[in-house]
Amino acid sequence: MEPAFVTSNRWKFSEAEKILNKYGINIVHANIPLEEKRGESVEEIAEDCAIRAFSLLGKPLFVEDSGLFVPSLNGFPGAYSAWALSKIGNEGMMRLLEGKPRDAEFRCCAAYTEDGIHARAFTGSVRGTISGEPRGSGGFGYDPIFVPEGEEKTFAENPSLKGRLSHRAAALQKLGEFLSGRQR
Ligand code: IMP
Repeated sequence: MEPAFVTSNRWKFSEAEKILNKYGINIVHANIPLEEKRGESVEEIAEDCAIRAFSLLGKPLFVEDSGLFVPSLNGFPGAYSAWALSKIGNEGMMRLLEGKPRDAEFRCCAAYTEDGIHARAFTGSVRGTISGEPRGSGGFGYDPIFVPEGEEKTFAENPSLKGRLSHRAAALQKLGEFLSGRQR
């Protein structure tokens, strides 16, 4: 059975598809509107969304929640990453970070359910820094301002970095291992 990835974000879907295909897992896209509950952690939000999505779809599925956490902003934008991006954009993040340490972390949780009662959480993170200005045109969201540790380019300047290093790749590799173990 091909699990559905419930997301309205086509970039997230294509990143997930590439990673899971390496484990022999095919996924289908389900773009159903799901309101996210308020929560502090990506785990809490993803697990809740997965259970609610199952009540609409009734088949094995996963949902992903992710965010950018900046310690010098007390973890902001964190669980409000999508909202903050729509309000202040990457330029606004530049202003907020003027004169502040620019360490940052992306976190992701993929929550999988096949019964709508329990959700299994797979998490991943990547540390890095926020660049001095937005750079690059690939990817989405905060990709133009995030430079993963040990690299010089932003995710948007070199989107192939994401397949190797991203928070989503780390979480989905764990999901891929779990699902491919089930098939054996
Ligand atoms: P959500 O997971 O859809 O609630 O939104 C998380 C938000 O965090 C997205 O809208 C993006 O703005 C940002 N985000 C999550 N993952 C990434 C990524 O891989 N690159 C850039 N921004 C991301």
